Amino acid sequence: MDTQMFIDEGVAILKEKIDDIAIIACSGGIDSTVAAVMANGAVGDMLHCVYVDTGFMRKGETEEVREMLNDLGLNLKIVDASERFFKHLEGVTEPEEKRKVIGEQFIRVFEEEQASCGAKYLVQGTIAPDWIESGGGERDVIKSHHNVGGLPDDVDLTIVEPLRNFYKDEIRNMAALLEIPSSNRQPFPGPGLAVRVLGDLTRKRTEACREACAIVEEEFEMGAEAGEMEIPWQYFAALLPVRSVGVHGDARVYGETIVVRAVRSIDGMSARYSEIPHSILQKISTRITNTLKGDVNRVVYDITHKPPGTIEWE
Ligand code: XMP
Repeated sequence: MDTQMFIDEGVAILKEKIDDIAIIACSGGIDSTVAAVMANGAVGDMLHCVYVDTGFMRKGETEEVREMLNDLGLNLKIVDASERFFKHLEGVTEPEEKRKVIGEQFIRVFEEEQASCGAKYLVQGTIAPDWIESGGGERDVIKSHHNVGGLPDDVDLTIVEPLRNFYKDEIRNMAALLEIPSSNRQPFPGPGLAVRVLGDLTRKRTEACREACAIVEEEFEMGAEAGEMEIPWQYFAALLPVRSVGVHGDARVYGETIVVRAVRSIDGMSARYSEIPHSILQKISTRITNTLKGDVNRVVYDITHKPPGTIEWE
């Protein structure tokens, strides 16, 4: 069966199933965007797309997602919930606890949006590996993954999952056909920068991490374009609550540490750290310490594979 037929069939099924207001949490990621565009094709403005800005998005991300979803003709509401997330995360530094708080707050925000638009249906961009992999087994929880849009089973909504039987490559083909431009972005964790800011989650420290991530992305992408390196599967910066003594001009500074992480991987289950030319790492280090003068005075590169490390630091 070809991709257009998959899409047409999906839209027809959605049309049949949804006869009232529906809601979808849209992060701008490929799965939720494909699901939203299909549902929009089926029921138009009866579909309410909600993008929750948690305050932990990448630099410029909310604006980019807004533009993309608007261009796709979706009925979109952006909810700035950052105040609430920062407030509930005050003093929370343990990674699993952080993830729990973020997951819970996300659900609270979403419930409020559901109540305000009176949705009866919940469209989700669940794809085949999502439910196959969570199907059981006695594995240790290494990290409780939170997917923006991954809501609990007890919500009082009829769940509709148009992509349940499809795999990532098929979703990519659908996205291309639907002219969705997000298909080649690198993976980004549901809790966002919150798992890249180790220690206290303040706005200031989050902003520092956001800047550092943007610098890493920019330098790697320029390096790859210039043929100096291969673009890693995933690449970012994390802010560590480790202070060290440094010097700026004549002054002593006592700032925190940025770690740069870049890996090669197929599916994120295992990974090898990427070998990056020193010239590029050096540019990154100079830009980060200049931009975050006083707050960050040391940049290090992580040379740990997964296992034993994980890709993210939390
Ligand atoms: P780890 O850090 O466990 O990550 O080696 C493997 C891949 O998953 C991403 N990741 C997440 N993705 N929700 C997600 O949707 C999450 O909570 C989450 N935590 C980690 C990580 O960025 C990497 O690509």
